[in-house]
Amino acid sequence: MRALSLFTKQVVWGLAFFGSVQTLAEDNLLKMNTDRAKFNYQMLCQGCHTPDGTGGKSVPKIKNYIGYFLQNQMAREYLVRVPGSANSSLNDEQLAEVLNWMILEFGGDSVPKNMKYYITNEVAKLRQQSLFEVVEYRKMLVKQLAVK
Ligand code: HEC
Repeated sequence: MRALSLFTKQVVWGLAFFGSVQTLAEDNLLKMNTDRAKFNYQMLCQGCHTPDGTGGKSVPKIKNYIGYFLQNQMAREYLVRVPGSANSSLNDEQLAEVLNWMILEFGGDSVPKNMKYYITNEVAKLRQQSLFEVVEYRKMLVKQLAVK
């Protein structure tokens, strides 16, 4: 009997834990206001990153590429710390939202199946950590990415 009740407890805890993880993930998704994200991208980012994320001579292509940066922690942090993100006039919540939106909208096959969404607190902390020698830093990161 005792063993059974221990098992039951574990199941109950397991379900409670699973439930809370689920809610977190759903919260992240629900917080995404797609129209606002798109509007902010158009107003503040598109001028350089182009409407479909192709970029240009001095602006890297995010289309079918940006998701690769989610492969490791340093590269994940780079997407927030890069000047275009970090120094934008967006607040932390909106920056997290635009980044998630850019990845989902333009990332294509580069986006990992289990993509971990940026959240406000994470962005708030990271954007304060300025990047120097951005172009060199990016090159170093890209070398470590597994690109299809
Ligand atoms: C003045 C042009 C310009 C604007 C405006 C701009 N960016 Fe960028 N962005 C760049 C350049 C250039 C890079 C490459 C890294 C670097 O040299 O800063 C870049 C890189 C990035 C990257 C990393 C992608 C990669 O492959 O390196 C992200 C994420 C990003 N920008 C987000 C944004 C967001 C979000 C906005 C709008 C809030 C924005 N950028 C506005 C020029 C711009």
